[in-house]
Amino acid sequence: MPGALAVHMAAARLVAVALSAGLLVVIGGGFSVSGAEELTNTSSSSSAPQLLSTVLTTESKDGSARARRPSVQKELDAARAKIRRAARGKGGSTAPEWFHGGDNVDHALLARVYRNPAAFYRSYVEMERRFKVYVYEEGEPPIAHAGPCKNIYTIEGRFIEQLELMPPPPAAATGVVRTWDPARAHAFFLPFSVVEMVEFAYRRPSKDRTAIRSLVADYVRVVASRHPFWNRSAGADHFMLSCHDWGPWASRGHPELYANGIRALCNANTSEGFQPGKDVSIPEINLYDGDTPRQLLEPAPGLSSRPYLAFFAGGRHGHVRDLLLQHWKGRDPDTFPVYEYDLPSTTTTRNSSTTGTHDGADRQRDYFSYMHRARFCLCPSGHEVASPRVVEAIHAGCVPVLVSDGYAPPFADVLRWEGFSVSVPVADIPRLKEILESIPTAEVERLRNGARLVKQHFTLRQPPERLDMFHMILHSVWLRRLNFRLNR
Ligand SMILES: *[C@@H]1O[C@H](CO)[C@@H](O)[C@H](O)[C@H]1NC(C)=O
Ligand SMILES: *[C@@H]1O[C@H](CO)[C@@H](O)[C@H](O)[C@H]1NC(C)=O
Ligand SMILES: *[C@@H]1O[C@H](CO)[C@@H](O)[C@H](O)[C@H]1NC(C)=O
Ligand SMILES: *[C@@H]1O[C@H](CO)[C@@H](O)[C@H](O)[C@H]1NC(C)=O
Repeated sequence: MPGALAVHMAAARLVAVALSAGLLVVIGGGFSVSGAEELTNTSSSSSAPQLLSTVLTTESKDGSARARRPSVQKELDAARAKIRRAARGKGGSTAPEWFHGGDNVDHALLARVYRNPAAFYRSYVEMERRFKVYVYEEGEPPIAHAGPCKNIYTIEGRFIEQLELMPPPPAAATGVVRTWDPARAHAFFLPFSVVEMVEFAYRRPSKDRTAIRSLVADYVRVVASRHPFWNRSAGADHFMLSCHDWGPWASRGHPELYANGIRALCNANTSEGFQPGKDVSIPEINLYDGDTPRQLLEPAPGLSSRPYLAFFAGGRHGHVRDLLLQHWKGRDPDTFPVYEYDLPSTTTTRNSSTTGTHDGADRQRDYFSYMHRARFCLCPSGHEVASPRVVEAIHAGCVPVLVSDGYAPPFADVLRWEGFSVSVPVADIPRLKEILESIPTAEVERLRNGARLVKQHFTLRQPPERLDMFHMILHSVWLRRLNFRLNR
């Protein structure tokens, strides 16, 4: 078996040739924090500019581009070239007014929050113009073409639904990413839901999860046998999406999916095989009853009405939470409230005070009211690395504090997380208060401004809108697809 696996991997390397200066590096300076230096030295990397002029003249002269559509390969080359130019400060982009805040956007803030605003703008616009995704029709609900649209795994069902519900052109002629013509597709989506697979095939208290891997393997085998596209790239231009803790584990059901496929995961744990340059980290968002909680849509209070330094409430899920609660639970409720489920009621509704019960809606209201009164919101990993608190904190105007090891946060290819959040390694949990106290008020305000700027990327809209979470996930897939060239 290891032999067979090795053959698969070798084949994949032949097929998918990583570009010498990958687009991810061009846009973001890779995933290291240093970045800008790399941007100045990418000109030697590709022959794309020549292709660019050919493709562009064809496109601009010919209004009916549909008749002589450039090949998928040439379209990608053209997009790469334009993004590279934009990243070098060429290409005459007028990016700033396009970002949230319009003409009034603060350039210093843009530069703090985006790795390269002009390159991001260009790659996003190129995505809107060109990117086409083919969605396989194989499989039946519940495990394919459906997924949860509520609660903690919301994004799994919503993404499938938003992609599949796109009407065929010409009903919505521009910006339709889904294509029904696989010959036009730059990427192929495997619309299965690991959450639904778990519901369907896993019976507690059994510890046997192998049926879930088999379902994933079968799905890939079916599409690989019925269509030529999987084998053509050994899966490299295919993507899956899962928010379930077991998503990464399930993807191992098919070795090529694991090794080559683009895996869009909430559980983006680099110690569990998540590869930031190949895989996509997606936000975990908890839509308790299918909608963004009303309190999170209200205007977020300013710093002067935030008496708490930091806040956390939640369960003792996993070793990170355990350490956090051990150190901070109940220690300093006046400035650093940390609770294990036992959030004291701040809402004095008749029912909760007379009956002593504290129902779900009340608890949720209290929870968000704490988030509105803290400067920092602690977002420790739980049973897996991601936390829905990150999205909630961003909406509540509370600076998210990522307490995790090996977590690759979402959209880090275009966003500088250090511009709107704080990261603390698990080993520094005992120093949390000290670390947060040492951040000057002016910096907290800058981080909050950064969070306000990126909020749109962490918002799920129905129907999807430009730059929202759905489109940012697609953009992450687009960048990874641009990052290699199929050798055929
Ligand atoms: C720029 O790239 C060339 C070719 O890859 C390399 O030889 C050179 O050392 C690089 N220059 C800098 C400043 O990194
Ligand atoms: C793709 O490869 C698999 C494994 O070698 C094979 O079973 C399948 O028939 C191939 N698919 C097509 C469409 O040829
Ligand atoms: C609160 O109490 C009132 C009056 O007893 C009752 O009608 C109502 O259903 C209660 N609400 C909740 C949420 O329990
Ligand atoms: C990340 O993965 C490693 C390796 O499987 C595991 O030990 C660790 O607990 C994971 N982190 C979290 C927060 O689940």
